Amino acid sequence: MAFLVAMFSAVSVVVLAVHWVYRWRNPRCSTGNLPPGSMGLPLLGETMQFFSPNTTFDVSPFIKNRIKRYGPVFRTSLVGLPVVVSTDPELNHFVFQQEGRLFESWYPETFTEIFGRSNVSSLHGFMYKYLKSLVLKLFGPESLKELLLRDVETAACANLSSWSRLSSIELKEATSNMIFDLTAKKLISYESSSSSESLRKNFVAFLRGLISYPVDLPGTAYHRCMQGRKNVLKVLKNMLKERRNSPWKQHGDFFDCVIEELNKERSLITETIALDLMFALLFASFETTSLALTLAIKFLTDHPNVLEKLTEEHDTILKNREDPMTGVTWMEYRSMTFTFQVINETARLANIAPGIFRKALKDIQFNGYTIPAGWRIMVCPPAVHLNPEIYEDPLTFDPSRWKERPELNGGSKHFMAFGGGMRFCVGAEFAKLQMAIFLHRLVTKYSWRAIRGGNIVRTPGLGFPNGYHIQLFPKA
Ligand SMILES: *[C@@H]1O[C@H](CO)[C@@H](O)[C@H](O)[C@H]1NC(C)=O
Ligand SMILES: *[C@@H]1O[C@H](CO)[C@@H](O)[C@H](O)[C@H]1NC(C)=O
Ligand SMILES: *[C@@H]1O[C@H](CO)[C@@H](O)[C@H](O)[C@H]1NC(C)=O
Ligand SMILES: *[C@@H]1O[C@H](CO)[C@@H](O)[C@H](O)[C@H]1NC(C)=O
Repeated sequence: MAFLVAMFSAVSVVVLAVHWVYRWRNPRCSTGNLPPGSMGLPLLGETMQFFSPNTTFDVSPFIKNRIKRYGPVFRTSLVGLPVVVSTDPELNHFVFQQEGRLFESWYPETFTEIFGRSNVSSLHGFMYKYLKSLVLKLFGPESLKELLLRDVETAACANLSSWSRLSSIELKEATSNMIFDLTAKKLISYESSSSSESLRKNFVAFLRGLISYPVDLPGTAYHRCMQGRKNVLKVLKNMLKERRNSPWKQHGDFFDCVIEELNKERSLITETIALDLMFALLFASFETTSLALTLAIKFLTDHPNVLEKLTEEHDTILKNREDPMTGVTWMEYRSMTFTFQVINETARLANIAPGIFRKALKDIQFNGYTIPAGWRIMVCPPAVHLNPEIYEDPLTFDPSRWKERPELNGGSKHFMAFGGGMRFCVGAEFAKLQMAIFLHRLVTKYSWRAIRGGNIVRTPGLGFPNGYHIQLFPKA
């Protein structure tokens, strides 16, 4: 009898397991056909394949192979969740257009855990607009013109000058430091030199595990990521407490705005939201810009003709300047036409974000397929940016393509380096300003030579595994 029970249990378990695996691989959809694709192994899905490193600027082999097999829209499973990947410009556009209606922002589990508690990154409608208006006080056009332009130039001058006294600098690390320091100063009056707690180090740990399998065990990237976030929040929380407990004094930073809001009679934000927001802003600010800047300088090194043309543009600005002692003016900044072409072209090829995630709120029909409610959808910028039908010879670095193709401008359908839809990155203008002003100072005052490194790897986010080491020489 016992034997029969054991036997029966064992068979049931096997049957259930087989059924479960079958269901995993063949998810149901009652309202139509799912896009084609494979869900990979149970639980793990195709996560490993997705994260496997590669060194190409091209669309990652993971995406490329599946497009070949299934077409531009296919299903897969990443970090334990069913995902529809879209490389179709129409569907991408639709996703961004319908933000808040049919789709909401969604980030991998790590993100949800991280930004989740007060939902800063998935805030919708009213609250989002409200926070955005707060952020625009810092990064909006007025502030860019009146304050940030000067601050960015001062930082670029000082940092470049100190680097030029060294026999070698690692550009990614150096620019990342410079940008983080500047942003942290603007946000919270943080001085890395006079602080024992390295905020940036914690952010780096956080970043490394951001898109990782969410297993919170010591030793995992996810664990270090959560630890990094905890440490940063602790520092921010202490700073906020200190500020609120001491007599009111204007520091001229973003913390001022936040505290002012918190102190309001019927404040819309809580301390938790405020801290999450500060965290998100610091995080969003530095890593992407320093990666883009490093890549831009690598491209310039490899394309002397582009460097020459860029230098010409900036030398002309200096030549036409009435008072040689003043810094870059807003007018001059706006006139850097070729520089913006270089920046766009770098962003197009850099594809720093390998995927932009959304969550479907309702069943969505597209081209005969159904994306079920609750599924994630990953819009894939590389597939768009490297589409040979839109960008001729897509893997070639050619800034002038932006001049010849004015219809590319302003259309988020074919260029989404700075995100798309309502969530259009609030920091994008600040990032462009930092790149342009840094390049201005660099090409007018210095020449440089590459020493080593500069090779890229994608996992699938962009990285420089050996850094990019260069030596700077002041121009005579
Ligand atoms: C990149 O992917 C291709 C195709 O899957 C593979 O053949 C190649 O070995 C990969 N390169 C690296 C450096 O992993
Ligand atoms: C955050 O969002 C989740 C799901 O969208 C919700 O259940 C939760 O209550 C939200 N948390 C806060 C603090 O609003
Ligand atoms: C680099 O710029 C940052 C940001 O303004 C500044 O805090 C730092 O002191 C500068 N470093 C050097 C060596 O000048
Ligand atoms: C760069 O791309 C943006 C779209 O994000 C566009 O508005 C801008 O005009 C482009 N700049 C140039 C120089 O083509």
